[in-house]
Amino acid sequence: MTRDPEAPAFPHPHLLGIEGLYPWEISCLLDEAEQWVEAGRRARKHDGRLAGLTQINAFFENSTRTLLSFEIAGKRLGADVVNLAAGSSSLKKGETLLDTALTLNAMRPDVIVIRHESSGAVALIAEKVDCPVLNAGDGRHEHPTQALLDALTIRRRKGRIEGLRVAICGDILHSRVARSNFHLLTALGAEVRAVAPPTLMPAFVERLGATAYTDMAAGLEGADVVMMLRLQLERMEGAYVPSTREYFRAFGLTRERLRAAGPDVLVMHPGPMNRGVEIDSAVADDIQRSAITEQVEMGVAVRMACLDVLTRARRGEG
Ligand code: NCD
Repeated sequence: MTRDPEAPAFPHPHLLGIEGLYPWEISCLLDEAEQWVEAGRRARKHDGRLAGLTQINAFFENSTRTLLSFEIAGKRLGADVVNLAAGSSSLKKGETLLDTALTLNAMRPDVIVIRHESSGAVALIAEKVDCPVLNAGDGRHEHPTQALLDALTIRRRKGRIEGLRVAICGDILHSRVARSNFHLLTALGAEVRAVAPPTLMPAFVERLGATAYTDMAAGLEGADVVMMLRLQLERMEGAYVPSTREYFRAFGLTRERLRAAGPDVLVMHPGPMNRGVEIDSAVADDIQRSAITEQVEMGVAVRMACLDVLTRARRGEG
C-alpha cells in the first residue's frame, strides 16, 4: 500500500493505538512534533491554535507524567483544558462507562484524552462521542503517544529508526508501552527484540515481528537502543518473578550488562522507574547514554502534535 497524495496526512478521527497505522502516518505525527520541540524551548511557548476549544483529560487510572504532559500540551496550544481525575469520578459511584462517555460528550468537548485500566475501554468511549479521542493508555493494550515520544527521542538522537536494533526489556506481558512500541518500531523498520523472563513474555511478540530472548546478555548484544520497562506489580495476580532482588540479578540493567550493547547505546525508560529493580541508578543517571528526561520533553511535543492534527477538521483545516 502506498500513500494517496490527495488524502490528509493523518486521516483518522481518533488516535486509539499504533496498530494498523501506516509508516507515513506515524512519520507525519513525528514530523509535526518537531516544531513543538523547538517551541517548547522558547521562553514564550504559547501558540493559540486550539483557542476556544475544550479539551477534557479523563483519567480513570492514576497518572502523573502523562496527565501533566497532556495538560501542558493542551495549554500551550491555547485550549481550555479540564482534568477529570479517577478519585472524583462517578464511575466510583457505579456509573457505567457508556454513561460516563455520554456525560462527557454532553459537555461538548472538542477533544477527549482518556486513560483507563481496562483494555478496549477507550475505543468503546470513542464510538459514543462526537469528538476526537486520544488514548493515553488502556489496560495492557496500547499507549500510542508513549511509543510516538519514544520514536521521536530515538529519531532525534540516532537520526533514523530503520535498521536500528532495539531491545525492549522487562515486564512485556503487562505493558501497553511495549505493545505500542512493537507496532511502531517494526512498522518503521527497526529490528526489535523482546527480552524478558519466560513468565513475562507474551506469545504475541513474535507475531508482531520481534525476536524473543529470555537471556538478558544475549538480548542486549549489539543493541543500539535499550528500552527498560517497569515491573507492573499492580497488574500481577500472584508472583511472576521469585523476588525483585532475584529479578534485578537476572534482568536489571547495570553498567556491566550494558557493555554487551553497542558503544553508543541509548538507554530509555517510560517512567516511573523502579531503581534497583529493573534499572541501576548508575545507568539511569548516565547523562551520556540515558535519554529518560528527554523522553519526557518529547512527550509534550508529541502530544501537541496529536492534539493539533486530530482537531484540524473541527477547526476547518484540512
Ligand atoms: C507507563 C504506563 O502508564 O503505561 N507510564 C507512563 O505512561 N509514563 C508505564 C508504566 O506505568 O510503567
